[in-house]
Amino acid sequence: MRHPRAPLLIQVHLFLSCLARVAPREPNHFFYQQFLNGNGNGEIHFNGVKLYVDAAQQPVFPVRGGNATLPCRYRYEPELSSPRRVRVKWSWLPAAGGHEADVLVAVGSRNRSFGDFRGRVHLRQDFPGDAALVLTELRLNDSGRYRCEVVDGLEDKSAVVDLDLRGLVFPYQPPHGRYRLNFQGARQACQDQDSTLATFEQLFQSWKEGLHWCNAGWLADGTVQYPITQPRVPCGGRGVAPGVRTYGRRHRHLHRYDVFCFSSLIRGDVYYLPHPLKLNLTEAQAACEEDGARIAKVGQLYSAWRFTGLDRCDAGWLSDGSLRYPIARARKNCGPSEPGVRSFGFPPPQHKHGVYCYKSVGE
Ligand SMILES: *[C@@H]1O[C@H](CO)[C@@H](O)[C@H](O)[C@H]1NC(C)=O
Ligand SMILES: *[C@@H]1O[C@H](CO)[C@@H](O)[C@H](O)[C@H]1NC(C)=O
Ligand SMILES: *[C@@H]1O[C@H](CO)[C@@H](O)[C@H](O)[C@H]1NC(C)=O
Ligand SMILES: *[C@@H]1O[C@H](CO)[C@@H](O)[C@H](O)[C@H]1NC(C)=O
Repeated sequence: MRHPRAPLLIQVHLFLSCLARVAPREPNHFFYQQFLNGNGNGEIHFNGVKLYVDAAQQPVFPVRGGNATLPCRYRYEPELSSPRRVRVKWSWLPAAGGHEADVLVAVGSRNRSFGDFRGRVHLRQDFPGDAALVLTELRLNDSGRYRCEVVDGLEDKSAVVDLDLRGLVFPYQPPHGRYRLNFQGARQACQDQDSTLATFEQLFQSWKEGLHWCNAGWLADGTVQYPITQPRVPCGGRGVAPGVRTYGRRHRHLHRYDVFCFSSLIRGDVYYLPHPLKLNLTEAQAACEEDGARIAKVGQLYSAWRFTGLDRCDAGWLSDGSLRYPIARARKNCGPSEPGVRSFGFPPPQHKHGVYCYKSVGE
């Protein structure tokens, strides 16, 4: 038997494999799709064009009051010859917990910012595909995970950038003593000291840097924890390994603990007031005001100690009625052998001491 059709079959096969070699990565070469894009104009798309969105690999570590740029860029593969109108949306998952919130939405030159971010954010747009978010006047509670989402028609891609403010965690006990704060009271206590409730990540970072505290305190997520770096100090029982110990989530109204507060760099100056006399608490407040300043808050003293190396071996009043002093270089007769902010607790307000004042920039 002859096979009259065989040559034709071979020809078709050759043609197909040839086509596959020439254009192997454009499977939809022959198909166009029509749809609406962000600004409502109908446009014709190659189905084979893909949108990619990349963000920073590394977290961003700015300071309070400063600016941060969260990188994000998008591109097409294969590359497009003319720019396209996309919708860029930035949203934020707070480090302190809660729901994802909108930060900014931009389509072309139109844009809108939301909530606490209104007036503090814009897109960079320095080069084609640049969708970096510029955040100004950073606040302590801006930390968290930011998501950059780019939408072009049906294509919708996103990437995330972590923003962690550079700062420090300090434990806080109110004047009326140990384990007196419920969750709301803890949040208020931090705010009163120019700081905010610390997150677990912030406490963990401070523990790695040596924070040791033997009292349990609230964190922003409603859990209660304490950081242990010196296992030999009896704390939570014998033989406790170093680490951040947790009591887990506690009842926000009924349970009472201390608190861990987070503060970042402050803009301004904390100083020990030169004064001929020792002062009681009311005199101390008045003396700072006479100097064009205010009596310093606990978060401000910690921040100055940590970020500007404030070092003074004189105990001074602070706004909450506590008596403290900052030691950056440990030495004889100035407390323990490690640097730190030393505390004498809350002495009677009629007692006479020095005072630490805070003058913000421009005062
Ligand atoms: C932050 O950015 C604004 C404008 O975007 C600028 O005026 C300001 O000086 C910047 N602040 C810092 C600390 O760089
Ligand atoms: C956003 O809108 C403001 C005015 O609403 C405008 O000044 C600014 O140029 C716009 N564009 C970007 C990219 O932020
Ligand atoms: C964040 O802190 C600012 C003050 O710095 C405050 O006005 C705002 O309410 C805070 N936002 C949240 C969600 O706690
Ligand atoms: C501090 O001393 C002044 C007098 O110089 C007095 O009027 C004030 O009541 C005192 N304050 C306290 C808290 O003892």
